[in-house]
Amino acid sequence: EKSGYDHFTIKEIHEGPNAIRETLRELNEVKKVAKKLKNIKRICFVACGTSYHASLVGKYVFEKLLGIPTDVILASEFKYSVKTLDKNTLVIFITQSGETADTISAIRMAKNKSKTLAIVNVVGSTATREAEYVIYTRAGPEIGVAATKTYLTQLTCIYMLAASLSGKDEIIDSLKKIPEIVKNTIKLENKIKKISEKYKDAHDVFFIGRGFSYPTALEGALKLKEISYIHAEGYAAGELKHGPLALIEENVPVVSIAPPGESYDKTLGNIEEVKARGSKVIALGSKNNKDLKEISDEFIPIDPSVDEFLSPLVYIVPLQLFAYYTSVGRGIDPDKPRNLAKSVTVE
Ligand code: M6R
Repeated sequence: EKSGYDHFTIKEIHEGPNAIRETLRELNEVKKVAKKLKNIKRICFVACGTSYHASLVGKYVFEKLLGIPTDVILASEFKYSVKTLDKNTLVIFITQSGETADTISAIRMAKNKSKTLAIVNVVGSTATREAEYVIYTRAGPEIGVAATKTYLTQLTCIYMLAASLSGKDEIIDSLKKIPEIVKNTIKLENKIKKISEKYKDAHDVFFIGRGFSYPTALEGALKLKEISYIHAEGYAAGELKHGPLALIEENVPVVSIAPPGESYDKTLGNIEEVKARGSKVIALGSKNNKDLKEISDEFIPIDPSVDEFLSPLVYIVPLQLFAYYTSVGRGIDPDKPRNLAKSVTVE
């Protein structure tokens, strides 16, 4: 079943491009749902783990395209916000398995108060029966405990929904180019493997990014801690000087996510700050950004270049590969990390 791959995790990373393509075929279904959603004054995303990080991307996408105030709430914390729900709120639940207990109980709390929409991978799962509207991600089965290809398809649904609600069809055209770019990015596999070999004994790894890259930083850190057991933290790059900078010392790896766009110059400034404290910078950016390449110790070039708006779909892939090869390099089974289950069915 691993089709020649050593682990499901790496097989599923390689399935990313196709998973996005399959999910794009749901566009008509997404449009049907979008038509039914009228008078939305507030959006509230609710999820756990990786699905929570996809939701965070959703906040940036929805606020940029629609200007609708958007909150993102961890499913396990949702009950404290239930009083703020009303009929003009759309609550979007994201769950790969459709069985996560925290998320299911949040759907039940929201359903008679607000409109509920679930973005789910597993057909016929509990979430699909509890929510008013359902959009499917078409990633196919995901066996590895770490969510990889399903994250890409959750993001695809978010962009399709925001494009449908805002009538911006040009976004769909750009989305159609993403599978090929992800495929190109996977070709960096050997380079990323070498980088992970160099840093596999690190005690702590920091991930930084701004705006659309902030969720990517959080998700990159989650992948690394989950399957390599290295302590990893994701930060909004602008927050560094409000505390975490105290932890940056000689040789600490800082993975910096710096796609071209509005936040690029400021992220570059933050990279200079950590470099000045002796950290090792592993930077992800457009292959055209020579200044980024020069300042970093390791440079992962994204080619062709993708602007920050769609960058979450592409920039996470090298970080998934980085976590995978770090895990394998440390002798861990990436498919079955200790203490974790694929779907968490207790609250
Ligand atoms: O099935 P769900 O999307 O609801 O699962 C949510 C989290 O348990 C899940 O994303 C978890 O964080 C993954 N193991 C992360 O790789």
